[in-house]
Amino acid sequence: MTKLSQRHLLGIKNITRQDIDLIFETAANFKEVINRPIKKVPSLRDVTIANAFFENSTRTRLSFELAEKRLSADTLNFSASTSSVKKGETLLDTINNILAMKVDMVVMRHASPGAPHFLARHIKANIVNAGDGTHEHPTQALLDGFSIHERLGEVGGKKVAIIGDILHSRVALSNIFALKKLGAEVMVCGPPTLLPRHIASLGVTVETDVKKALAWCDVANVLRIQLERQQIKYFPSLREYTLYYGITKKMLDTLKKPILLMHPGPINRGVELSSDAADSPHSLILDQVENGVAVRMAVLYLLAGAN
Ligand code: CP
Repeated sequence: MTKLSQRHLLGIKNITRQDIDLIFETAANFKEVINRPIKKVPSLRDVTIANAFFENSTRTRLSFELAEKRLSADTLNFSASTSSVKKGETLLDTINNILAMKVDMVVMRHASPGAPHFLARHIKANIVNAGDGTHEHPTQALLDGFSIHERLGEVGGKKVAIIGDILHSRVALSNIFALKKLGAEVMVCGPPTLLPRHIASLGVTVETDVKKALAWCDVANVLRIQLERQQIKYFPSLREYTLYYGITKKMLDTLKKPILLMHPGPINRGVELSSDAADSPHSLILDQVENGVAVRMAVLYLLAGAN
């Protein structure tokens, strides 16, 4: 197979196992390219991509920008905080104005779940979801899966515990869909108030004891507390959260078998992860960031080919 089944990447829920395998295969080739002295290829010359970020980002935005530059695409960067959105312009008007400048693809982050799906129904350009509210963050799940595949040989059969604020996390949902499609066993772990009520219906095990989750898994993917999305208090204090759910290097070092530690970033050091855990040999965190560029190059390249 050389083509994706979709012309947009809106989420992992609607893509196939074959799509994921093709993205991983293509990303492995691009990873080799970006480690050469000349890191650029002409694959997307004459393709124009707008990065429309209506919500803050460091990693995803920089990673998409770099992926586009490595592929020789022309790029436009749009940030809601410095745009006419502040003057009341609608999402559709904003995007249609960007498209009037002959843009082929839009990479969009938005605080509202479903915003990229809405756009995909109204405009012709390919849409890549760079995170929509608490819904999905597909390229994060792809780079997480790719990083596990690269380090452990395969994802199938591996035990992955996703630990933290599952309720408000788009990374958790996209990871669950991706890991299940790749044949991993998935556990979610966090305080009961931060676990969605029907999460077990997605085929995951639910655990509230972080020590049991760490003892069970091959890979722990730790998420931050998404305070910006919490309207009420879900636990008494960050100090208490750290006491019960914070992961330290000592906890990792004393497990019966070594495990890998992942985090999508940004890390709240001293809350969900101690600094010595985040910077320990268990950590895949910076490999995830490096792989993000190759995975995003693969996604953009394959979507451009779908036209
Ligand atoms: N992992 C992630 O989405 O990070 P940013 O919010 O910095 O893009």
